[in-house]
Amino acid sequence: MPNQNSSFPLDFLWGAATASYQIEGAVHEDGRGESVWDRFCATPGKVRNGDSGEPACDFYHRYPDDVSLMRDLGLDAFRFSIAWPRIVPSGRGPINQAGLDFYDRLVDELLAHDIEPFATLFHWDTPQALEDAGGWPSRATAEAFVEYTDAVVRRLGDRVQHWITHNEPWVHAWIGHSWGQHAPGRTSEADAVAAAHHLLLSHGWAVDVIRAITPGAQVGITLNLAHSYPASDLPEDEAAAWKVDGEGNRWFLDPLFRGTYPADLLERNELVAPFVQDGDLDTISAPLDFLGVNNYFRFVVSAGADGPRMERVAESQHTDMGWEVYPDGLHKLLFRVTRDYAPRAIYVTENGAAFGDVRGHDGQVHDPERTAYIQSHIAAVYRAIGEGAPVKGYFVWSLLDNFEWAYGYSKRFGIVYVDYPTLERVPKDSFYWYRDFIGSQPRVPRPSPIAAA
Ligand code: FCB
Repeated sequence: MPNQNSSFPLDFLWGAATASYQIEGAVHEDGRGESVWDRFCATPGKVRNGDSGEPACDFYHRYPDDVSLMRDLGLDAFRFSIAWPRIVPSGRGPINQAGLDFYDRLVDELLAHDIEPFATLFHWDTPQALEDAGGWPSRATAEAFVEYTDAVVRRLGDRVQHWITHNEPWVHAWIGHSWGQHAPGRTSEADAVAAAHHLLLSHGWAVDVIRAITPGAQVGITLNLAHSYPASDLPEDEAAAWKVDGEGNRWFLDPLFRGTYPADLLERNELVAPFVQDGDLDTISAPLDFLGVNNYFRFVVSAGADGPRMERVAESQHTDMGWEVYPDGLHKLLFRVTRDYAPRAIYVTENGAAFGDVRGHDGQVHDPERTAYIQSHIAAVYRAIGEGAPVKGYFVWSLLDNFEWAYGYSKRFGIVYVDYPTLERVPKDSFYWYRDFIGSQPRVPRPSPIAAA
């Protein structure tokens, strides 16, 4: 394990990640419009226990205290997302200055504590008005995203140097539009494919807008990636693993880095073709400053009668999400992405684990499994860096226990426990481990925020 004698690069950023709908609450405040997640949560049977993002962690009001916690932790960087319906409540048209004011205050608070803001523009909370007008399967939503991006970057671009356009377009497209388990709850594969294309297209357009407003900014996109292992050496298992890799990883990596959709996914290429216009793939493949990688598990795949089958490795440890703990999957993934796509830089923008935490008689939360998870995955990142992966930072998911989408509040990913009835924050043992680990790393002063163009 790295320590003072064998350390990460001096400018490596240690961070924590969150997302607007999962922590903010205040869904009716300061002119915020309805999002697809508000509507989805209000639909009976969609979210466990009928939970919703109100009040979540009430970060909207408690952010000064939470930024103090981040300072105690020694964070270099904080990843948060901006709630689109706070900025453009009706999807298109008037900009809500009160919504921008909140992020303005948050960014100032972070910078005052010497914490670098990493802003994600879209972490799944589309304004409901845009969904009603066709949503991500419609190209018009990509155009609306660019208008929103323009408003946000004009306000915050003098202080925010790192922009992530989208979070996990695969999850939003497929789980939200084909599997129906996330908002907006659609169940059409064709909608998912179209949504994915428009998410990527809007990413490309947004990159141009961000660079035009703040030429010095670093711009990237965050993908959920998982290394796909064949269950055996049999050629059919290898082919099944490659197919899973294509559907989850290459369907996004190839257009972003090569300007093409992977040719081997024939059915999906047929589905996407009607939505691809001349020039789209050039737009999507505009060079990125960094790739954001979210990783939680690996895939182990065999050839089933009806297509690839995901195998559960019984002897492995699994988290409260049922996800296999397999740190070397992150190492292999970072190595492979570097070898095949040569990103200029990589940030691990999410990595972490849910376990069934309880507060002990001593009032504390002892979470040795989470500490071990984080520690072993940081070590995997370190191995990948040693083999040439240009990883520049690591963000633990998550700072706080929060609203875990369709699971509501039943899954705890935080390194800080949130006592939901009182909203009290209780740093878990993993928080103290991470604090001590960050403190053991040599640091260099970071560059000061860029000036607006
Ligand atoms: C990722 C999401 C994030 C969180 C974690 C556990 O897919 O980006 O919001 O829910 O999973």
